[in-house]
Amino acid sequence: MCGIVGYLGEKEASSVLLEGLKRLEYRGYDSAGMAVLNGNGVAKAKCAGKIAALETVLLSQPIHGHTGIGHTRWATHGRPNDENAHPHSDCKNRFALVHNGIIENYLEIKEKLLKAGHHFRTETDTEIIPHLIEIYYNGNLEEALIRSLHEIRGSYAIAAIAEDEPQKIAAARMGSPLVIGIGKGEYFLASDIPAFLPFTRDALIVEDGEVIVLTPEGVKLLDSHQKKIERTSFRVLWDTAMAEKGGYKHFMLKEIHEQPDVISETLAGRLKPNGISLEIEIPKFERVFLTGAGTAYHAAMIGKYWFENLAKIPAEVELSSEFRYRNLHLSKKTLVVAVSQSGETADTLAAVREAKKQGASVLAVTNVMGSSISREAPSLYTRAGIEIGVAATKTYVSQLTLLFLLALKAGLEREALSSEEMKMFLKELYRLPELVSLTLKKESDVKHIAKLFASRKDFLYLGRHVYYPIALEGALKLKEISYIHAEGYAAGEMKHGPIALIDENVVAVALTLKSPVYEKTISNVEEVLARDASLILVAEETNKQVSKYTNHLFLIPETHWLLSPILAVLPLQLLAYLISDKKGCDVDQPRNLAKSVTVE
Ligand code: F6R
Repeated sequence: MCGIVGYLGEKEASSVLLEGLKRLEYRGYDSAGMAVLNGNGVAKAKCAGKIAALETVLLSQPIHGHTGIGHTRWATHGRPNDENAHPHSDCKNRFALVHNGIIENYLEIKEKLLKAGHHFRTETDTEIIPHLIEIYYNGNLEEALIRSLHEIRGSYAIAAIAEDEPQKIAAARMGSPLVIGIGKGEYFLASDIPAFLPFTRDALIVEDGEVIVLTPEGVKLLDSHQKKIERTSFRVLWDTAMAEKGGYKHFMLKEIHEQPDVISETLAGRLKPNGISLEIEIPKFERVFLTGAGTAYHAAMIGKYWFENLAKIPAEVELSSEFRYRNLHLSKKTLVVAVSQSGETADTLAAVREAKKQGASVLAVTNVMGSSISREAPSLYTRAGIEIGVAATKTYVSQLTLLFLLALKAGLEREALSSEEMKMFLKELYRLPELVSLTLKKESDVKHIAKLFASRKDFLYLGRHVYYPIALEGALKLKEISYIHAEGYAAGEMKHGPIALIDENVVAVALTLKSPVYEKTISNVEEVLARDASLILVAEETNKQVSKYTNHLFLIPETHWLLSPILAVLPLQLLAYLISDKKGCDVDQPRNLAKSVTVE
């Protein structure tokens, strides 16, 4: 996730762009930059670091002009450094362009452009676009942009300027957000409304497939065939703080609702008709060892089951805080997968170093390019965008999605899956963003149940096999943001002790999804009911049996049982959020916690 801004008017563009970028910093902050037109070509300022670093650069080397574009970056392709910071340009620096999204087919286009003699300066996917514009430009920027877009596949919100048209910005959207602000004789564009709220409250939403042209004459909206589209603006009534949260009360809720898009980003370019394509080569391995902390550990735990079931390979999992104290006998044939959203968790970093010391192959699954862990080990990125709520939600489902792809790929390479099975999993993965979206639409059912149970003091989350880590994650979410005592337990272990706790004061949340462990889990549900606990079940909406156990149901769409944990966790995230909010807790910044734990 990145943020883009644009300004055309009479003010000094660099200061308007800087103000906008500061308000979009929540979308990413590993590097930033801007380009303005001043009648003497394209003037650029860009650097690695937060917006404050760009501000310092601008103080020592100001750039002047009244038309410009800017970018705050959350790296996905190419490290966060000065060169890879946007805007990017063509060979002769006649154009500048900023981009939020991922170009899936950039490698093949880059190869063609290199053969044609184009000179590249960065490792980014974005840089191909100004070079395509360079080829197609014939005095009209939007025309060149549209022709370039016909060649690319992926998601984008793009803004571009051209030295020969100093009073024009051309922009386009496909799958990444883009809004226009309309002021008096001045125009703005941005990834999100807060960027221009200090200047105007009149806004226009750009839809997928549309191209926008800003000039002193106004805003022109075009479809991909350059046909004009009419749209009326609306007035933004949110205050700035609310606007940053996209109208949601908390970042956590916004991030929960971003999950369909996040999964699409995680999958982008990785699903192929006959398998899975990942950006890096995974060395051959005979055993896999997954590690992580907290929520990332819960993702690693499910990863273990996936490697066992999809790749038929021995898999183990260990907390990263325990990893280096064990005698693990790792070897070259072991792949250690370290899962960490931040890429900074001290214990996980130490586990990576220990695994490397023992000669194992190491792979990181992380959200942050340039993080300490990503510098220690080859990394696959979850592409969830920046997560502000301390409780991990969207980064967790993106970790799960990526681990599933990894296990599936290993299964394919080992011929552990039939081509029928492979096709079925690919089909289900294509449907996943839609299934997540359908699950989240049931928020009002969760709200009703959250209201009933918000004042209860003890929750027990139960699940078996792939749903056991989901039980742990559901309990963790509830305890960390609502300060209610909650335990996650392997349902089959109940009778070995914890059943003694159960009475009418306990709320049991059981994961009864259709799977090879369904009937066994239902037996555990009966045990809970027999001891008078209140019961909430997570089940498929097609399961007509579960309503005989309780009226408190979280019903989710059906998918393959190995994938259903990704859906099953969603109502549990919502339950924790809604209870925390009802109790008046500080949802986004719960007490005693930090977003990244850099001490051991
Ligand atoms: C819980 C949560 C934490 C993190 C853990 C590891 O909601 O966010 O449990 O999962 O601190 O952090 P990363 O993934 O950054 O290594």
